[in-house]
Amino acid sequence: MAVISFGSLNMDLVARSPRLPKPGETLTGHFFETIPGGKGANQAVAVARLGIPTQMVGRVGGDGFGRSLLNALQTDGVGCDSVAVDEATHSGVAMIAVDDASENHIIVVPGANGRVGESDVARLSSLLFTAQVLLLQLEVPLPAVVAAAAAAQQAGVLVILDPAPARTDLPNELYSLIDIITPNQVEAAQLVGFSVGDRPAALAAAETLQRRGVKTVVIKLGRQGALCLTAEGAFDVPSFPVQAVDTVAAGDAFNGGLAAAIAQGLALPEATRQAAAVAALSVTKAGAQPSLPSRLSLETFLAATEM
Ligand code: RIB
Repeated sequence: MAVISFGSLNMDLVARSPRLPKPGETLTGHFFETIPGGKGANQAVAVARLGIPTQMVGRVGGDGFGRSLLNALQTDGVGCDSVAVDEATHSGVAMIAVDDASENHIIVVPGANGRVGESDVARLSSLLFTAQVLLLQLEVPLPAVVAAAAAAQQAGVLVILDPAPARTDLPNELYSLIDIITPNQVEAAQLVGFSVGDRPAALAAAETLQRRGVKTVVIKLGRQGALCLTAEGAFDVPSFPVQAVDTVAAGDAFNGGLAAAIAQGLALPEATRQAAAVAALSVTKAGAQPSLPSRLSLETFLAATEM
């Protein structure tokens, strides 16, 4: 069965400079590249590279970036028949400044992603019978996210929500439509209204989200791994130590790895371990979609860590 990602496609405009500019300052950078990204598209590519049939549902603008974004997805085998080309606006862009210490500033201009709505949910609904898992994020309007989750629940499709970028205002009705929510510490703190700096706080945040109606909570704790809370209780999944080069799309890699593992039939502990491995591999390479590993890289990495 397939995985569907419903969400954003962005062209990432990445500039690297020795340090980040101060307000009003102009700096000379030493590197520039356009890299396909967007949380929805990144998650679709992460799943497809692991060999699982994948469809993307969303919108690009009627411009060169839109054509490049679709080409990139198709090259990775992601089905794009349900990505609309919106001639009324530009494709989503993310302007990413990265300094030599890998700190970054990101400005996302939604463009076509900001116009995702009812017609996109209708295209999604007609595909759901083919799917086992629906991946959602928060880079398209919230009403569309809620409608997509409701359609998936009605179709018996497992819903995984990555509540990124962080926001505080998820509608209450969304929580009970989510099977698995996967915030990082910052996103979890925004959702629950208290700091999520350590494992006890992560457990308290997970319990809060569960009380709101989410079935399973997976809190991504970076180098400390992940904390999972299901109806049966909590367990921890360790991270994989790697030399990080660039963390852009690490969260997308995690969610793609999780969805692929569930589509393969793995149980949550093993699926979360696979997700952590995919995320670890992604931070060893620069860029969003270029950093996402293949099935072969994942299996080689997992075999090496078991030796
Ligand atoms: O999660 C990483 C993504 O966030 C980037 O590819 C960028 O497009 C931003 O949306």
